[in-house]
Amino acid sequence: MRQDPIIALDFATEAEVMSFLAQFDEPLFVKIGMELFYQTGPALIDQIKALGHDIFLDLKLHDIPNTVGKAMEGLAKLNVDLVNVHAAGGTVMMQRAVEGLRRHNKDIKIIAVTQLTSTSEQQLHDEQNIQTSMEKAVLNYAQLAKQAGLDGVVCSPLETAMIREHCGADFLKVTPGIRPANSAKDDQQRITTPEQARQLGSTHIVVGRPITQSDHPVQSYHQIKESWLNACQN
Ligand code: C5P
Repeated sequence: MRQDPIIALDFATEAEVMSFLAQFDEPLFVKIGMELFYQTGPALIDQIKALGHDIFLDLKLHDIPNTVGKAMEGLAKLNVDLVNVHAAGGTVMMQRAVEGLRRHNKDIKIIAVTQLTSTSEQQLHDEQNIQTSMEKAVLNYAQLAKQAGLDGVVCSPLETAMIREHCGADFLKVTPGIRPANSAKDDQQRITTPEQARQLGSTHIVVGRPITQSDHPVQSYHQIKESWLNACQN
């Protein structure tokens, strides 16, 4: 998989996506999430692939093991590079997800969402009723994902060093919650700059609004890409 920043294509229509992508004349790594996929369906995937881009299909599956396993068999037939589930679905659900995917495809990587980067520690305690620190809660999910045979996790860049220590350097750490210095935080809580994310051990960063809502998306993408790729990993 490319190491380039993964651009979150959080648009509602195919037309918006295509006009956004038309500004770029290079292969990208893009993320298609629920907002887009539920509007356009799988047809858009082939169109984006035909442009030479890698695709992270971010549907965050979370259901009973049988349903997730069957759904993954379906996703395995799509032309994507990375898919995901919620670790909160449990070990058996994650194992069935891997089995379903591998039945039809050996190449697509599969990762688990640990805790959404929009979740604060207070919400973790008060709403999810998980009474450990955020770090411990995330590490627990990362270790379960590794034991279940997944390729990595989605996590905050603030948690990657700890996950690398326990799950290894090769275990993918895909991190949203990225904001260049002085840009709007939006609804993200646990954020870092692209440079900090690399220094902390992220293997991939996901960036949405700082690029998609920018007045100059290509320029913003290149600034973020340079700071990400040029920073040294500790
Ligand atoms: O616009 P922004 O850079 O905040 O976009 C981040 C993207 O990463 C969104 O598409 C969001 O759904 C996704 N994401 C996240 N936190 C997670 C998992 C995915 O923000 N833990």
